[in-house]
Amino acid sequence: MQCNGNITIMAKKQMLLTLLVLGLFRRYDALWCNCTTAQCQKTGSQCETDGACMASTSFIDGQEQHIRICITRDKLVPPGQPFYCLSAEGLLNTHCCYTNYCNSLDLKVPSVTLRPGLGGGFGPDGTWGPVELVAVVAGPVCLLCVLLIMAVFLFQYHQRAYSHRQRLEVEDPSCDHLYMAKDKTLQDLIYDMSTSGSGSGLPLFVQRTVARTIVLQEIIGKGRFGEVWRGRWRGGDVAVKIFSSREERSWFREAEIYQTVMLRHENILGFIAADNKDNGTWTQLWLVSDYHEYGSLFDYLNRYSVTIEGMIKLALSAASGLAHLHMEILGTQGKPGIAHRDLKSKNILVKKNSTCAIADLGLAVRHESTTDTIDIAPNQRVGTKRYMAPEVLDESINMRHFDSFKCADIYALGLVYWEITRRCNAGGIHEEYQLPYYDLVPSDPSIEEMRKVVCDQKLRPNVPNWWQSYEALRVMGKIMRECWYANGAARLTALRIKKTLSQLSVQEDIKV
Ligand SMILES: *[C@@H]1O[C@H](CO)[C@@H](O)[C@H](O)[C@H]1NC(C)=O
Repeated sequence: MQCNGNITIMAKKQMLLTLLVLGLFRRYDALWCNCTTAQCQKTGSQCETDGACMASTSFIDGQEQHIRICITRDKLVPPGQPFYCLSAEGLLNTHCCYTNYCNSLDLKVPSVTLRPGLGGGFGPDGTWGPVELVAVVAGPVCLLCVLLIMAVFLFQYHQRAYSHRQRLEVEDPSCDHLYMAKDKTLQDLIYDMSTSGSGSGLPLFVQRTVARTIVLQEIIGKGRFGEVWRGRWRGGDVAVKIFSSREERSWFREAEIYQTVMLRHENILGFIAADNKDNGTWTQLWLVSDYHEYGSLFDYLNRYSVTIEGMIKLALSAASGLAHLHMEILGTQGKPGIAHRDLKSKNILVKKNSTCAIADLGLAVRHESTTDTIDIAPNQRVGTKRYMAPEVLDESINMRHFDSFKCADIYALGLVYWEITRRCNAGGIHEEYQLPYYDLVPSDPSIEEMRKVVCDQKLRPNVPNWWQSYEALRVMGKIMRECWYANGAARLTALRIKKTLSQLSVQEDIKV
């Protein structure tokens, strides 16, 4: 029984195949059809083809349209039931045929109750020859294959989209032309904005357009919230921080802080654009900023030692950036005081001219001076444990007082200065790079481990004696100690540090 069945199926398959091949080559000669397109006007409303004639009547938006065209053989896919010859119930009544001027007939306006013979579009008389039968059987199979192939393509496309390598298309070019003249560079755009606008950066729709025309190149880092990529925009490099969709709040917060009016400063990472794009499957959250090829101060110090001049430039520029961040500027074009709360060498970038740009403002808080409040409810202990100030570690920090957060930043700045100064090459001596407290706590210290060292034992990174022999190193050592007081209020301010280092740079005859 079973055996018999198999043979029958095999035989059928063979026959179908033969018929299919025959069907494909059945009509080889040129075929003339009636034609309604504009190009056919010259040839007397007719066209010649190696494929089929097609007539179609559609009823779309209350309008009846009649089309007669030629279809070339290579467009008759899938064989047996070409897409070009399909009807759509109620919308489109299509008929393909294979004799001269066979598409001269007038098709009825499609209705929901079509005669089945007409919809399928086989033989002009609506009879079912062997070829049509084959088509009926093979058609759905081929359709299935095509759908499968399309599914595979779609999947691959999504895969590629996921690795963000695709060029994101511009979606709303409505009024961008005002700002997006082809020859404008990002610097021009941002300059335009900061001179005419609010000083908080590009308008949102321009940000979106910029973000969606960036071509991502390579991943350059992974952080707490997602990945950082190098991207290209109009021939220049930009950095793109891509947040995972779980981190929407972090993305929003960081974008919000960067767009604080008057935040732009040469020693704060230049913000370019924020964009959230929902593609149906997931939300892409982008933060676009200036790109600095040296990377973070942490990377820089690991790779290079610095001269006395280099050290002062790094330290002074970091202090300038932090002073600008902390400073409150009054007036309508003013800026609120901002505390960073996660200052460390990995969150400071080194620019081409070997000065610093403070980055990663995602945990920052702003001071509302009119009400003397902080713009978000600051949670207890955020940031990097290794860089936490003693009052943060033992939770004695007064979080209602905005200045407390600035003092905690200064403590962290002192640790960064220690990292820089160790790498200073004076008289042929310099030390290897180390993280602060590298000799006192394990690699990923807990708050408890840090608290024991910093609060209970009151230990601080070691300031070697030989630094006393060089004026610049001596000044740096003194600043550090005054950044590390247990009492936050006793520490230096960023502005004070900036002034001290400016004087030092004049003394050392350094051009900054
Ligand atoms: C189709 O073309 C033939 C030959 O040119 C012509 O006689 C006939 O009227 C045309 N039919 C229509 C509907 O235009």
